[in-house]
Amino acid sequence: MYNFIPYFISTDKSESNMKLLVTGGLGFIGSNFIIKLLKEKNDFEITNVDAELPGSDKRNLGEIQNSEKYKFVKGSITNKRLMEELISKCDTVINFAAESFVDRSINDADPFLVSNIRGAFTILDITTKQHKRMVQISTDEVFGSLASTSATEDSKLNPSSPYAATKAAAELLINSYSVTYGSDVVTTRCTNNYGPRQFAEKLIPKTIILANQNQKIPIYGNGSNIRDWIYVDDHCDAILLALLKGKSGEYYNISANNEIDNLTVVKKILEIMNKPQDLIELVEDRPGHDLRYSMNSTKISKGLGWKKNTNFNEGLNKTVEWYLQNPEIWKDIPSKILDTTPWKT
Ligand SMILES: NC(=O)c1ccc[n+]([C@@H]2O[C@H](COP(=O)([O-])OP(=O)(O)OC[C@H]3O[C@@H](n4cnc5c(N)ncnc54)[C@H](O)[C@@H]3O)[C@@H](O)[C@H]2O)c1
Repeated sequence: MYNFIPYFISTDKSESNMKLLVTGGLGFIGSNFIIKLLKEKNDFEITNVDAELPGSDKRNLGEIQNSEKYKFVKGSITNKRLMEELISKCDTVINFAAESFVDRSINDADPFLVSNIRGAFTILDITTKQHKRMVQISTDEVFGSLASTSATEDSKLNPSSPYAATKAAAELLINSYSVTYGSDVVTTRCTNNYGPRQFAEKLIPKTIILANQNQKIPIYGNGSNIRDWIYVDDHCDAILLALLKGKSGEYYNISANNEIDNLTVVKKILEIMNKPQDLIELVEDRPGHDLRYSMNSTKISKGLGWKKNTNFNEGLNKTVEWYLQNPEIWKDIPSKILDTTPWKT
């Protein structure tokens, strides 16, 4: 037994008290998922393992940190001995942990290979050997840019960025384990999330923070890149369904049918915040910038009964409000995080 393993974890697995190992739960989506489960459901005990890398913030989980149903372990998903121990004490692993910022992957892809491939593989191998379920949180970016069509679960993987390539690599390993060992893995792929607790480096929080300080808001190229924005809570609902009802070896695309270009997104935020549109500054585009992502999510809607509940205007208003009400999360953020062209720096 390692001394960093919390003593509370037992191997009791009654269905009414499911033990989840969430990885990367100090980040954006993982923290929203944990809070949702602990606040809205009574059936889960959650251990969160996170290496406290870029994107993480312990304050994201401040409101539930004293819950009896929650424990935190600092550690990396690449640490095989730690993960063997933690997985042996849970029923299911939900793997959110990843290096997640495309711009940083252009600057230095190495940490992305470590967390997103080696880390995912470590969990896959251990869950397979221990006969546990793994839910892998993947992305629409594995399909690359699509001019007009929407990717289905069977579309060709065609990643453009080093980040997307590492997520696709994890998917290929998962596929090989499903075929070879019949591993109990469910993979979800989601479009661009927005909502509370997203790290300041990403487009929507960055825009809100800079606009609040009346600073210029950089937009790559001419702002015509299209993403299908989904409110994080809707993504978390889909993950829970995949965890409880998803079929082993299957993939589920999660999209919001809300394709909008970056310029329009930023203009909407400025409107909500009553800030002038001339804060917008078009800047040099990042290399390999995919023009459009799009997926079809009929499979999860029809098969598992998922639907989105939050429209974009409502979600964006809630998001702006959250950042304005929680300035302590972002007010001391180093200026390089809000840089105009982070992929260069
Ligand atoms: N944000 C999106 O729009 C989006 C869309 C689709 C899929 N995803 C996927 O969802 C997951 C979560 O994304 P996010 O936006 O919350 O990312 P995030 O960057 O906000 O959080 C990632 C978390 O993972 C942790 N982490 C990274 N490497 C680790 C390691 N080796 N061991 C333990 N912890 C580690 C970080 O410390 C951080 O807390 C990622 O797998 C990402 O690929 C994100």
